[in-house]
Amino acid sequence: MTQQQQHQGRLAFIGGGNMAEAILGGLLACGYPLSQCVVSEPIQARCEFLQSKYPGLQTLSGPDANRLAVQGSKSATNTQSLIQDGSIQVNATAASIEFAPAEVVILAVKPQVLRNVVVDLAPALRALQPLVISIAAGIETSAIARFMADGVDEDAIAAGSVKLPPVIRVMPNTPALVLEGAAGMYATADATPEHREVAESLMAAVSKQVSWVETESLIDTVTGISGSGPAYFFLMMEAMEEAGVKLGMDRATAKALTIQTCLGAAKMAQLSSDDLETLRIKVTSPQGTTDAAIKAFEAGGFRDLVQKGVTAADARSRTLAKELGGAKL
Ligand SMILES: NC(=O)c1ccc[n+]([C@@H]2O[C@H](COP(=O)([O-])OP(=O)(O)OC[C@H]3O[C@@H](n4cnc5c(N)ncnc54)[C@H](OP(=O)(O)O)[C@@H]3O)[C@@H](O)[C@H]2O)c1
Repeated sequence: MTQQQQHQGRLAFIGGGNMAEAILGGLLACGYPLSQCVVSEPIQARCEFLQSKYPGLQTLSGPDANRLAVQGSKSATNTQSLIQDGSIQVNATAASIEFAPAEVVILAVKPQVLRNVVVDLAPALRALQPLVISIAAGIETSAIARFMADGVDEDAIAAGSVKLPPVIRVMPNTPALVLEGAAGMYATADATPEHREVAESLMAAVSKQVSWVETESLIDTVTGISGSGPAYFFLMMEAMEEAGVKLGMDRATAKALTIQTCLGAAKMAQLSSDDLETLRIKVTSPQGTTDAAIKAFEAGGFRDLVQKGVTAADARSRTLAKELGGAKL
């Protein structure tokens, strides 16, 4: 994604944890002006850390921080009075404590606290209609809509007299922390192509692969493939390292060879026009060493095991969605 294509509007991060930091790092690497970003985060020390690591970034903490991050502050005087009465702590240069309302709000808190956070922000979100991007695992867009509709008559929403902001749900994965993520995205019907583009350009800052799914239930499958997937490869690598050690190799060498093999195989798969099966067949000479290993894997039910693992993650994601999101609208 080039800098020209990338959205450069005002962004508010609600929650300044690992994933928010990964996205900030990716945006910085893409040349995104971090002075356009504000992070609301309850831990003051974390705010200070983020602000020192990402110069120009504004961070807010305190009881009113989330709302202020979304609504913006019309004047430095307003902000100063909020600072004085203890409603917020601001980490920013004195000149930059006036900020415009957010065009995009990234919900980057743990799923367990998302309901309270969104209910508290609901009036501001309804008034300002930013694009809402949620990276919280397991919380469906219908649940987020229900939280944003808090306190509003359902008929008013059905009649269109009260509008809810568009929501895009993203399932990133941990390699985003090293800018090598893979993310699945789902947009509600009211998200426009422009909203999709904005979300895609932001997520592409940390995810080399960004894929849209057309039904929300496929986000659970994204979780089963790429969300939980890094751990499957860690398990495979652990097992290969251990096998090398049992055959007499020192652990450091077994680990280094395993990791580079995993990386090299992924790179070949990515760069080649061959499908995965063809790539495997090409490196498997009949009666050769690879053939011997593959036959042992197949005889042990390898494919079946992988199917069971991915299906278990998909099913667990659906269960968590029910537990965390509660009843549908
Ligand atoms: N990490 C991943 O690989 C990954 C992958 C897929 C999806 N996700 C999703 O990404 C989201 C963030 O994950 P994470 O790993 O970045 O978690 P995290 O490091 O715990 O970050 C969440 C941050 O939000 C802060 N927070 C808590 N309550 C808040 C509130 N009321 N208002 C504003 N901020 C608040 C937390 O502060 P405290 O520490 O004080 O609670 C914490 O700094 C989660 O919903 C997770 O499901 C993460």
